[in-house]
Amino acid sequence: MTQDIVILAAGKGSRMKSALSKVLHKVGGVAMVRRVLATANTLADSKLHLVVGHQGEQVEANCQDFSANIVWQNDPQGTGDALRRVAPFLQADGATLTLYGDVPLIRASTLEKMTSLSTSNTLVLLTISLDNPIGYGRIVRSDQGKVTAIVEQKDASESQLAIKEVNTGILLAPNNHLQGWLAALTNNNAQGEYYLTDIIAMAARDGVDIVTVNPENEAEVAGVNDRVQLAALERELQSQQAISLMQNGATLLDPSRIDIRGELITGQDVIIDVNCIFEGKVVLGTGVEVGANCHLKNCTIGDNTIIKSNTLIEESEVGEDCDIGPFARLRPGTQLANKAKIGNFVETKKARIGEGSKVNHLSYIGDTEMGANVNVGAGTITCNYDGVNKHLTQVADNVFIGSNTSLVAPVQVAEGATIAAGSTITKQVGEKQLAFARARQTNKDNWPRPTKK
Ligand code: UD1
Ligand code: CA
Repeated sequence: MTQDIVILAAGKGSRMKSALSKVLHKVGGVAMVRRVLATANTLADSKLHLVVGHQGEQVEANCQDFSANIVWQNDPQGTGDALRRVAPFLQADGATLTLYGDVPLIRASTLEKMTSLSTSNTLVLLTISLDNPIGYGRIVRSDQGKVTAIVEQKDASESQLAIKEVNTGILLAPNNHLQGWLAALTNNNAQGEYYLTDIIAMAARDGVDIVTVNPENEAEVAGVNDRVQLAALERELQSQQAISLMQNGATLLDPSRIDIRGELITGQDVIIDVNCIFEGKVVLGTGVEVGANCHLKNCTIGDNTIIKSNTLIEESEVGEDCDIGPFARLRPGTQLANKAKIGNFVETKKARIGEGSKVNHLSYIGDTEMGANVNVGAGTITCNYDGVNKHLTQVADNVFIGSNTSLVAPVQVAEGATIAAGSTITKQVGEKQLAFARARQTNKDNWPRPTKK
């Protein structure tokens, strides 16, 4: 069956106390509403509608890449009112699935379970039984166990308040009936709102089957109203992600101390020590080890590479069997070939480092193309910036660069060359040449040391 998916995101979110729209606050590094859109997008034959209102420009601007039909709900008057504004865009056949922009952890598998039950004469509700149902709409059933209505907390009788089965808000309704039901909604209730949930009683009256599905876990249907709930869902998601990494063959020295804000793909026997942060898309090859307190963002790390503690890697590609850190910083555009070594307090940027080359201590290597088996002495830097433009440093294979060398770009050092320690290199160094570019040492005999006056 074809599907319209409506994501409600017009609410005020005042308890967030934020200039940012509630649904743009992030869980696991991704805006809540973007998580919902991404999940919805995985469902077959679906057309997305995003209902925006309060801070709607922000929401619209941040979700453009999903090409959802943006429906404005200025002056929101309830969930039923929201659906009514989408009604003109709904397909004639099929069904409409309603989701919430502030319920970010809903799973595609649960939604698929719902859609598998959908027919032109069936309404599917996602419900859950809660020990503490306060605040939720209650699922009212007949003596035969059939759902007959949803009653909102504020409109419920004493006996209805005792019902533990609640409405998660997520429901799937057949379009052939939905249009009529939406048109018939009224706001004669405790909140003076148009309740989407009033369509349940109409469906029961019209002889439509009302079936219920339960989510796999409570977190799937948990909504975020304030930053305390946001933090709770963040922990929940991190814990789920940690479990799935371990199930895929990664060792986490403490699964409660890892943060994945995006997508982390791990090969077999990856070992991750505590307090590491992974952002964007990070791929760790087989046997990769990541030490404590590392921060990796949008990077690929080859098999058996070891990243020691307190290393930061961004927008970089690292080969196999490399050795990085501790305290290394690989900035965007760094490419390390296999077996390269980047040691402590080394910063690289837009730098290609060839196979087996070593930059072991206290260096800055930027805008550089470096060949294989180069040894870069401690304290060596590329002077890549003249105050206006960036320039390239090219170092061929098997070069030896003495400690504390400045390579003033643009400059080339040819294959097999050697640079004496402390040199300031401003001119090309030829193949196998030795370059000295420092003041010659002068020694004076019998130097009289100063004496105390
Ligand atoms: C709703 C359900 C309730 C359910 C609960 C689950 C109704 C009438 N009630 O209640 O049965 O147990 O969710 O959390 O549907 N929104 C709009 N436009 C509006 C109103 C709301 O976009 O005019 C959006 C809000 O941004 C929010 C969501 O819809 O994301 C739910 O709205 P909210 O006011 O929180 O509904 P509840 O009263 O919690
Ligand atoms: Ca709510």
